[in-house]
Amino acid sequence: MELPFAETYKIKMVETIRKSSLEERKNWIQEASYNLFNLKSNQVFIDLLTDSGTGAMSDRQWSEMMLGDESYAGASSYYKMKDAIYDILGFEYFLPTHQGRAAENVLFSAMIKEGDLVPGNAHFDTTKGHIEFRKATAVDCTIKEAYDTSLDHPFKGNIDLGKLEDVLKSNPCERIPLVIVTVTCNTAGGQPVSMQNLKEVYDLAQKYGVPVYFDSARFAENAYFIKTRESAYKDKTIREIVKEMYQYADGMTMSSKKDAIVNMGGFIAFNDKELFRKASTFNIMFEGFVTYGGMSGRDMNALAQGLYEGTEFDYLDTRIKQVAFLGQKLTDFGIPTQFPFGGHAVFVDAKKFLPNVPKEEFVAQTLAIELYLEGGVRGVEIGALLADRDPVTRENRYPALELMRLTIPRRVYTNNHMEYVAVALKNVFDRRDKINHGFRIKWEAPIMRHFTVELDRIE
Ligand code: F0G
Repeated sequence: MELPFAETYKIKMVETIRKSSLEERKNWIQEASYNLFNLKSNQVFIDLLTDSGTGAMSDRQWSEMMLGDESYAGASSYYKMKDAIYDILGFEYFLPTHQGRAAENVLFSAMIKEGDLVPGNAHFDTTKGHIEFRKATAVDCTIKEAYDTSLDHPFKGNIDLGKLEDVLKSNPCERIPLVIVTVTCNTAGGQPVSMQNLKEVYDLAQKYGVPVYFDSARFAENAYFIKTRESAYKDKTIREIVKEMYQYADGMTMSSKKDAIVNMGGFIAFNDKELFRKASTFNIMFEGFVTYGGMSGRDMNALAQGLYEGTEFDYLDTRIKQVAFLGQKLTDFGIPTQFPFGGHAVFVDAKKFLPNVPKEEFVAQTLAIELYLEGGVRGVEIGALLADRDPVTRENRYPALELMRLTIPRRVYTNNHMEYVAVALKNVFDRRDKINHGFRIKWEAPIMRHFTVELDRIE
């Protein structure tokens, strides 16, 4: 008999989580103005809001915390992180930042100006926010297959080379400071980009003299998909694949709260010394001196160790199979999801799930609230609230996909938790015909509104 799948770690420390009653949840979500970000964590039983900074560090990472060097300048922890980045990703220069969006802020301060265009594959919301904040435009060049959730395609994060070339050809290269490829593509459903596409994008951008940067939050999960879905790479190690991926990039930003499995941290890495110098000034202004940039020494140590653990095949296999385990349970119940399942999350197709709720009433948000009420499970909306308003017309933007993301923290929950989540969502699915209305906005911030929005239920 073939041996069944089992996690390649065991548990050394646990944290109690609390169940609640439907009555309690009804009150709490109303007090939270129907914004799941406003809930207290102890009002949530299973928290699938994000995989960002929510992973469980290993015994080795905690040991590294004790060895952190907290010197203001030239800390050994900085050099440990520098060596790990060079070793795994191949970049000579790097700047630590407190998280991913800080890396974007620093890099874009050095690269992007008003009126610029930044093509890419469905930029993440903070990336887009930092581009639009500089009165520049993020141009989405993702392949159209990404927007058909039921279509089976191994690399739905790929960039459409025709769309990219149109942007590169029809604009002066001074207006296109960089192309950003997000690996894996979070907004499209945690979907990977193939090695072939990475190479083709790089070759095309080079032809027009435009640098390519990878938004690298989940680069190791992307490498896992290359290994398991792109036949030429099946015998390569994850680290070999990662090394090759970054041959097709001039630099990267990284939210290390994902694939480096730390609770806080990020960085920018590149080979361009001039750009490194220019960005260093912004790093000093916004983050901290160049050898700590918003991170403590202990956190840099844990991050360096996390880069090694996060690029081990067995760890990635455990993680991605857990995501697929949840995805398969939902599919067995007939629940529509983005297919194939992503690396860090299962994305439920809310428009197909709740066809009666009008798009103006925030379909994916409505679904996320129903799931919370059903079982105390917190997912997150990736839909019209997150898509925000057009910065020029101020009209609501309705994205092609309304998704509810069930994001799995790394090394935190067991498959029993996944079963619970699947059954809670099935119970909502069974009563979906009775869900006809969603929410209207009571208050919203001028940018990145989804974090703080306040909603009223439409009866
Ligand atoms: N890029 C991608 C692809 C991301 O997914 C995120 C964060 C960032 C950049 C920004 O990094 O949070 O460290 O500042 N994503 C989280 C999420 C918040 O829930 O998907 P950060």
